[in-house]
Amino acid sequence: EYYSEPFRPQYHFSPEEKWMNDPNGMVYHKGVYHFFYQYYPEDIVWGPMHWGHATSKDLVTWEHKPIALYPDKHGLIFSGSAVVDFGNTSGFGTTDNPPLVAIFTYHLMAGEKAGRKDFQTQGIAYSLDNGDTWTKYEGNPVIGNDGIKDFRDPKVFWDTENSTWIMSLVAGDHLQIWSSDDLKSWSKRSEFGRDKGAHGGVWECPDLFKLKVGDTEEEKWVLLISINPGAPNGGSGTQYFVGEFDGEQFTTEQEDIKWLDWGTDNYAGVTYNVLPEDYYGDTYANDPKDERIFIGWMSNWTYARDTPTEKWRSAMTVPRTLSLEKNGEAYELYNYPIKAINKLLKPSEKKNLTITAEGSETISHDHFNQAEIRFVSSANDFGLTFGNEVNETLVLKMDSATQTFTLDRTKSGKTDFQEDFASVQEMPVPQLPEEEFEVRILMDHSSIELFLNGGQYVMTAQIFPNEFYDSLKIENFSGSEMLLKDFKVSKIRRVW
Ligand code: FRU
Repeated sequence: EYYSEPFRPQYHFSPEEKWMNDPNGMVYHKGVYHFFYQYYPEDIVWGPMHWGHATSKDLVTWEHKPIALYPDKHGLIFSGSAVVDFGNTSGFGTTDNPPLVAIFTYHLMAGEKAGRKDFQTQGIAYSLDNGDTWTKYEGNPVIGNDGIKDFRDPKVFWDTENSTWIMSLVAGDHLQIWSSDDLKSWSKRSEFGRDKGAHGGVWECPDLFKLKVGDTEEEKWVLLISINPGAPNGGSGTQYFVGEFDGEQFTTEQEDIKWLDWGTDNYAGVTYNVLPEDYYGDTYANDPKDERIFIGWMSNWTYARDTPTEKWRSAMTVPRTLSLEKNGEAYELYNYPIKAINKLLKPSEKKNLTITAEGSETISHDHFNQAEIRFVSSANDFGLTFGNEVNETLVLKMDSATQTFTLDRTKSGKTDFQEDFASVQEMPVPQLPEEEFEVRILMDHSSIELFLNGGQYVMTAQIFPNEFYDSLKIENFSGSEMLLKDFKVSKIRRVW
């Protein structure tokens, strides 16, 4: 049956077959969410990159489409973005039928092999039939390279205040901002980041956008930067900066390093390009309005090539809404599943669970690997252990003394396919409310996504249990009774 292989995600996006990495070209146009991705159609390991393509009306169910972009004489097609050129600034379409324009990195293998440093350039392609067919621009590349080895992953958006296209582009250890009036001719405006943030690895997949702060009228700019390696729990991960953007330059007063997700398996994530509603002649019921929706690649370069699947490799996170909150003086970026995910949940009963001091309770369920577990906790010292019939366990722990949440997948199932996979992952949770916070877990056949306090602290990790988890032991490590309010386990419908 379709999508029923061992470890096949049932409600996360995965390609029908073969290798996938980064999300690319996420753009909303005429009621359709486009989703492209780094794709190698010949093997289940990374190889010459194409852009795979899928579409969705709700970001929950997907339709696979033919490959959108193939390598050409300028190189392989690396990561990038897509925009609706609503004013036909590029001239590729008309204002009545505005082109979709994809902006991506060309990676010239021959140049790399010859030891040159200028093998990554930026190219564009357009579609006049809402993404079904694509034509490469004959003037490619639109940005050449004068000797920067890592020069890639253009994310373009329409800057409504300055009426221009803005591109964020990474150059090894920093971000560059470029601008253009027609998507073809680009000028460099500024640089950011040599002296800010984490630098354990090369900077990749930038994204720059504005968000409201909580319910206030204050607005801030957020910059996402993926780095590989250098993530807090090893390998690749995504950091962010909160600051200002004046149309040319991004600046921030932030001194600390901030991570979007503390788990090992959320990389290269970026957000949907959605124009303000009034740029559309028509509006659609599924219009995302001003929501900022993020999708990340649910893997890690440390072991991405080694995970134990055969037909395809890897999946994406659930789409998540990003929001900014100000906690004390600090701006924090939250990420939390989009509301539409809720419609996949089968109805289930809520109950209040009380667990005696230093006691535990075990819940059975058939099975946890396609379920949501959700409750409101007023306790800060507890453990959640998922287990199966072959004694594999996935252990989550909250510890108030160290203000740390841990995810231990050392005995979670298949782990020996790569030496670093079996890890205990740690997440500091210093700002978690002491009174009450929500714990929400989304589990699929080969992943767990954990959201504390509405997305303030998040961990995403792959898991490969040999049997489904069918028991959950809830432990109270404190010396007083523990209350977990509104506890419920809901089955999640498959979407494939
Ligand atoms: C990030 C990345 C990008 C690059 C792509 C190549 O995972 O390394 O920087 O464009 O993957 O597939």
